[in-house]
Amino acid sequence: MSKKNIASVDVSGKRVLIRVDFNVPVEDGKITDDRRIREALPTIQSVLSRGGKAILISHMGRPEGVGFEPEFSLKLAADRLAQILGKPVAFPSNDCTDAGAAAAVAAAKPGDVVLLENLRFHKAEKKGDPAFAAKLALYGDVYVNDAFGTCHRPDASMVAVPKAMAGKPRVCGFLVEKEIKFLAAAIAKPARPFVVVLGGAKVSDKMGAIEHLMPLADTILVGGAMAYTFLAAQGKNVGTSRVEKDRIADAKKIIDMDKKMKVEVLFPVDHVCSTQFEEKSGDIEVFDDEIKDGFMGLDIGPKTQTKFAIILQKAKTIVWNGPMGVFEWAPFATGTQQVGKAIARATAAGATTIVGGGDSAAAAEKFGIADQLSHVSTGGGASLEMLEGKKFESVDLLDQA
Ligand code: ADP
Ligand code: 3PG
Ligand code: MG
Repeated sequence: MSKKNIASVDVSGKRVLIRVDFNVPVEDGKITDDRRIREALPTIQSVLSRGGKAILISHMGRPEGVGFEPEFSLKLAADRLAQILGKPVAFPSNDCTDAGAAAAVAAAKPGDVVLLENLRFHKAEKKGDPAFAAKLALYGDVYVNDAFGTCHRPDASMVAVPKAMAGKPRVCGFLVEKEIKFLAAAIAKPARPFVVVLGGAKVSDKMGAIEHLMPLADTILVGGAMAYTFLAAQGKNVGTSRVEKDRIADAKKIIDMDKKMKVEVLFPVDHVCSTQFEEKSGDIEVFDDEIKDGFMGLDIGPKTQTKFAIILQKAKTIVWNGPMGVFEWAPFATGTQQVGKAIARATAAGATTIVGGGDSAAAAEKFGIADQLSHVSTGGGASLEMLEGKKFESVDLLDQA
């Protein structure tokens, strides 16, 4: 990507409007994972240390878009950012375009940070509305996109705002730059063998990624619930496992494509199964190949874990999107943990390893391997769309380096 980054802009005394993605998970009034905030720090600090004023805008969750809703407030993010930065973060009002917000932006001095309230309290944000964007555009002398997790969205703050700021510097932040560097390079010029691990809840979510990666990867390892649609397409008994019936034809197409291509697409050869979709109450059994009626596959079995680990061990580039099982529940966590560990070992042996997807990143954190991988993406949908080979308008329209 030859886009200008924030380091190339003289920000001294300027209002730098930074679109961040502070859409962090919150439980019981607490942020459970602040990675998206921490990963935005290099950009924010670069602006502050050079005498710029950081004006931050973000969305949080999916509110109705008809005004303030407390459970979608960015106040928690403002507090966390202030704590990490060790300085106050102005959080002026409950509306990003009201007089209070405008006054806080106007009052900001070099080195100050302002975070405005959730953009999605206005329907106009999701609609990409130019009139709303024009108001936000007034807050900045420079526009920065550092919201990698939102880069696939054509929301007002991602597209209409930088368009409204044409003529002013419009650049990417360090997080967006790093994410795209890792994800794009892994796909375009992978050191080989290039192994892709795909899993997660729905095959329909990952079909585009499989199709795009098949001609590029050496091996694709498929686990998680999505594997069962493929196994059903091969005529295997999958019991009550999650199968997307309307995707069986697509799954057959992929299996046929695989026969004609160099890539090998591998599916689980054994399964940890339960009679119920519950953590504790079902009968748990491991089945090879055919799953007994009344049981559903909730994790890859030990043979599959070993088989996948051996392949991962030899890889030089690994992209991982989607857990191998219901890793949130202890009886079905081992498959994801073992695959994660194998990817960590490959990293130590010199492979470039990238994890994308919110739940996969959460799994990497949970199993303590996030720090042992080359890159853990802050993007869910955005990293998946990169794996599908899609382009982002929000990035394309930034200034060329
Ligand atoms: P990511 O966010 O990493 O892209 P997904 O959202 O696609 O991942 O899928 C994650 C979810 O898939 C997890 O919540 C996990 O419990 C679920 N999952 C994985 N394997 C299975 C399975 N065999 N049956 C049901 N759900 C599964
Ligand atoms: C995400 O969490 O994937 C991003 O913040 C985008 O959120 P959205 O899916 O609600 O647009
Ligand atoms: Mg997910």
